[in-house]
Amino acid sequence: MSLSVPRRPAVLAAAALAVGSLVAAAAPTALAAPSAVTAPSAVAAAPTPPDIPVANVKAHLQQFSTIAANNGGNRAHGRPGYKASVDYVKAQLDAAGFTTTLQTFTTSGATGYNLIADWPGGDPNSVLMAGAHLDGVTSGPGINDNGSGSAALLENALAVSRAGLQPTKHLRFGWWGAEELGLIGSKYYVNNLPAAERSKLSGYLNFDMIASLNAGYFVYDDDPAIEQTFKNYFSGIGVPTEIETEGDGRSDHASFKNVGIPVGGLFTGASRTKSAAQAQKWGGTAGQAFDRCYHSACDTLASVNDTALDRNSDAIAYALWNLGAGTPVPPGKSFENTADVNIPDSPAAAVNSPITVSGVAGNAPATTKVDVNIVHTYRGDLVVDLVAPDGTVYNLHNRSGGSADNLVQSYTVNASSEVADGIWKLQVKDTAAQDIGYINSWKITF
Ligand code: TRP
Ligand code: ZN
Ligand code: CA
Repeated sequence: MSLSVPRRPAVLAAAALAVGSLVAAAAPTALAAPSAVTAPSAVAAAPTPPDIPVANVKAHLQQFSTIAANNGGNRAHGRPGYKASVDYVKAQLDAAGFTTTLQTFTTSGATGYNLIADWPGGDPNSVLMAGAHLDGVTSGPGINDNGSGSAALLENALAVSRAGLQPTKHLRFGWWGAEELGLIGSKYYVNNLPAAERSKLSGYLNFDMIASLNAGYFVYDDDPAIEQTFKNYFSGIGVPTEIETEGDGRSDHASFKNVGIPVGGLFTGASRTKSAAQAQKWGGTAGQAFDRCYHSACDTLASVNDTALDRNSDAIAYALWNLGAGTPVPPGKSFENTADVNIPDSPAAAVNSPITVSGVAGNAPATTKVDVNIVHTYRGDLVVDLVAPDGTVYNLHNRSGGSADNLVQSYTVNASSEVADGIWKLQVKDTAAQDIGYINSWKITF
């Protein structure tokens, strides 16, 4: 058995999580509500988020529109309208006290630019990042896609400056180049971020198309804490939301999610058609695309839904102010058993792999994390339980997953009624004949 060192530095613990599976990334590790690990008394109330003036957001859109008009009708990668857009956003941020960085890359034979803006202050080891792609397609000015996300994010950054916000987390904003060519800019940023820097990113919020004329209110189904934050905003203003399903991975959040960073975001719909039920709850026109000017010449100021732009701009502020105030990621104490344990074929008794936990004060948290790595030729055969030191059984997996191989999965267990110290077991029983395997490793994190 190998015990990971309980007191390893937080950065290393977070780095280990960052390179974990996507499943692990989806767990509310980074932005979870304070658990038993953090003293609730240390949690300061989040400051009240401002109402973002939609007129200011529209003024930025007006600028993007003018920039496109003066540069051949678009703001696409490699075209002068893109660089002019970058210059406009950068000048605003510089004047407001941000530390801006222009990152260049080359793709499709042209120089691309990412604009990064850091708001001075906050915990350098816990960074909340928000981003939007600033490029458009060549066929039009790209005002909804994605002037809307770019402008709302810019106005939010300016609001941070106006408020003199001093959040617990360090805030960083990003405007990406060449998203329309395949998330090129954001991939470049993530790939060039040293592992130690990546692991400091507690979350990434993405805003791509947030003012579609026939708007829906879609929230990305990714990090639970980020998702819940956006849902809280919308329920507070009485606007129902749905989960975003029009192509997961089709925007820059995918670049972050792919390396294990918790992500979330907002979206008002692209070429998909609004249903009757959606028109009922949100207004607009059933049977028509959310954005019938998607990637077209008519993606102009006239194709922007001001109400959606206003609500989503305010939702961004709500998320930045609340998630930015979050307590730093508690390091968590992990214990692992990497010894293989054979799982005999059914019929046979359950087998188990023990881990001795010591040095964890009090009870286990409500967000006790269990990482399971079982090698098996048919995971649908398996019943997998976590057994607490007092014998309480928490079922993790009950024969789901059909004929797929292996069970490599993270689980969050509410083990808050269990004393943490003692011997925990991963218990596995094979319930059907013919396929076999072994417990490769498992890990419990408090
Ligand atoms: N990113 C796409 C674009 O710029 C638009 C898009 C389609 C999208 N589906 C999405 C954005 C889902 C966010 C979420 O053309
Ligand atoms: Zn887009
Ligand atoms: Ca079997």
